[in-house]
Amino acid sequence: MSQRMTLITSPVFISEARLKQAGNFAALFGNNNPLALEIGCGIGDFVVQVAARHPERNFIAIDIFNRGCRQTCTRIEHANLSNILMLRIEARYLLHHYLGEGSLQAIYINCPDPWPKKRQRKRRLLNQDFLDLALFCLQDDGELNFCTDFVDYGESAAELLSTDSRFNNQATTPYSHNLDNYPISKYMQRFLDREQPIYLCRYRKKAGLEIAPPTIAKGFRLRWPKGE
Ligand SMILES: C[S@@+](CC[C@H](N)C(=O)[O-])C[C@H]1O[C@@H](n2cnc3c(N)ncnc32)[C@H](O)[C@@H]1O
Repeated sequence: MSQRMTLITSPVFISEARLKQAGNFAALFGNNNPLALEIGCGIGDFVVQVAARHPERNFIAIDIFNRGCRQTCTRIEHANLSNILMLRIEARYLLHHYLGEGSLQAIYINCPDPWPKKRQRKRRLLNQDFLDLALFCLQDDGELNFCTDFVDYGESAAELLSTDSRFNNQATTPYSHNLDNYPISKYMQRFLDREQPIYLCRYRKKAGLEIAPPTIAKGFRLRWPKGE
């Protein structure tokens, strides 16, 4: 989908050039607090809720959609939270280039694009390559949180995560429809309003693993917004 790119001037919006210049996220946040990442934050309603609950963590909210980035910045500013920064950047690109081994305490992926047609499924974010990259970037005991309303995506994600021995899976089922205290995003709310169940997968990385740095898979393409 093409999108109209307009300049975002919010103080919480970080360009790639600024990230490169700062060298790391600790320099941008001005402290060494643990880092969490929300991939595909949409309009930022989830990240604002989770960051308000965890002032001891820094949150990076990313999306490739310009309008969503702008709305997220406004939400962060209105919430007056100093522990969230927003970037317009592709998830795998950020993980590969700017987030190193063991750099993240948590990753959140809520209602990612489902790519429902069979021939489109290879475009889904959560696959083995992404998982290897995410596990490399997670610290010991770091959490991977994934949720979708899409049955087939929920089931395949749960299968992928629950059979990966690098996770400590204490859950009795590979996914849950019980959201407990998990904050609700715009898309989650939309599906809950239609009484569609949400598939929530929450996994923790085992401690003491040695994970080789993942290589960029052949054919790996970054959906990078023009104009950055
Ligand atoms: C269906 S929306 C869900 C938004 C939000 N998480 C929610 O639950 O309300 C998916 C979002 O992910 C973003 N997105 C898709 N692929 C992405 C990627 N590879 N990196 C970063 N963001 C991505 C899209 O631009 C879109 O805003």
